[in-house]
Amino acid sequence: MDFSLFTDVSSILFIVLFGLITYTIIKQCRRPSGMPPGPRLWPIAGNMLSITGKHNLIEAFRELRRQYGDIYSLKLGSSWIVVINGHENLKDALVKQGDMFSDRPDNFFFTRLLQHQGIIGSSGLLWKESRFFTQKTLKDFGFGKRSLQDKIMEEVTILLKTIENTKGETFTLKPLIQGVFSNIVTSIMFNRRFDYDDPQMMKIRDMLHEHLTDSEFSGILDAIPFLESFPGDLFHAKRLLTVERKLDEFIQKCLDEHKQTLDENNILDYTDAYLSEMKKRQKEKDSVFSERQLVRICRDILLAGTDTTATNIRWAILHLICKPEIQERMFLEIQEVIGLERPPEMNDRLEMPYCDAVCNETMRVSNVAPLSAPRSTRGDVKFQGYRIPAETIVYPCLDSVLFDEKIYPNPEEFIPDRFLEGSKISTAMTKLNIPFSLGRRSCPGDVLSRQELFLTIISLVRRFKFLPPDGSGPPAKKRIFGVIFFPAEYKLRAILRN
Ligand code: HEM
Repeated sequence: MDFSLFTDVSSILFIVLFGLITYTIIKQCRRPSGMPPGPRLWPIAGNMLSITGKHNLIEAFRELRRQYGDIYSLKLGSSWIVVINGHENLKDALVKQGDMFSDRPDNFFFTRLLQHQGIIGSSGLLWKESRFFTQKTLKDFGFGKRSLQDKIMEEVTILLKTIENTKGETFTLKPLIQGVFSNIVTSIMFNRRFDYDDPQMMKIRDMLHEHLTDSEFSGILDAIPFLESFPGDLFHAKRLLTVERKLDEFIQKCLDEHKQTLDENNILDYTDAYLSEMKKRQKEKDSVFSERQLVRICRDILLAGTDTTATNIRWAILHLICKPEIQERMFLEIQEVIGLERPPEMNDRLEMPYCDAVCNETMRVSNVAPLSAPRSTRGDVKFQGYRIPAETIVYPCLDSVLFDEKIYPNPEEFIPDRFLEGSKISTAMTKLNIPFSLGRRSCPGDVLSRQELFLTIISLVRRFKFLPPDGSGPPAKKRIFGVIFFPAEYKLRAILRN
């Protein structure tokens, strides 16, 4: 028998296979032409190794910026990611070319968890109409108006009483403060508040918090989607999906109650307003209004509106414990402008530049959403001399502005005076303070959140002196990163001033 024929065929097969593998490896290790620069690509791993091994993702991104400049690219799993740094670049992308940079990507987080619904997860017409309606309705329900101030102050008054009950003993702020902001949101959405120790709401708040911390795992699942079916739920996919389902169930229950009581001549809250609009539009063929969309919008507002502002306040108090002289300077201004009797109002802010500067510095240094929320390019985009292909994931790196050493020397330090120009608030500096991102997709809760921060912090400092626990030094300013930056849990004491 002649074996040479087999040998020839197998040699050819071997060469073809070898060629194919080599070609695939070379292709995997090359950036598409026109892509922004970035670290060397490795077969299969792409750039995964460039972001692992650092304390957190933000540290890794800061280091990459130092090496590759303001705009760089990374390949994580099968996705290309472009990271945009610096105020001018962010303005160019999110404002000037906002149309091209305003979609959300297709990945585990947006496709599986958010199902491209609600406001945070949707794109195109669904997003545009839902966001427009929501912003308009929230304005009608008091964003920027007195009625909202009253709601905030109602919750803050209960918070003050609860803190007073600690009688100078050591406590933790987190569970109290979360209740304040979830109640403000639920009263706007469902015209309803819950006791801080309401077991159902406590569970919801824990789930919201868990979602924002656990979402670090969803980053891994975004890059490598098949890990979702890994046995044992190692990457928390099932856990995250369960949280979503439970949030939906809670909101659906509130919604069902509203459907029974809806009176179109007496709209009491956002849910009523949405249901009424949905009815009006039911004859429209392509109406984006649906019960499912309403549930997902309420879920977004509850999630985005609770832990974010609560985290801001926890950062503020932590910094104030570390710098008691700032508390005293605020107290003097509060005494002078508002006094100790009447409740604070938003209009007071104009006459309180130092407290305003404290709020600005809190929002900056908290750096709550350092990577904003990822966007996706609608088509091929020309941007700052690069060509970014359609459906590339884009991270608007707000951290690059909020912690830019050139704008804010020693950025980790809490220095409210950065926002002052003589005795006035500096508009040039406040313009650069962009914790809510920029452009048409920036945070629609910014007005509410600024009001909550100002009214809460003023009320707290007017009533209490905040100190570390007896016999210990100031708490450590340790950051924990999930989807947002949290301060590690800390203990404190609040001593009544008056
Ligand atoms: C400290 C407080 C807050 C911070 C720092 C913050 C920050 C942000 C950021 C950076 C985004 C992403 C924008 C983008 O895609 O570029 C966002 C989106 C969003 N935020 Fe906030 N937020 C805060 C509070 C709130 C509150 C109180 C609400 C609701 C009442 C809210 C509702 C939303 C919603 C619905 C979106 C999605 C917007 C969209 O996709 O069009 N946020 N927020």
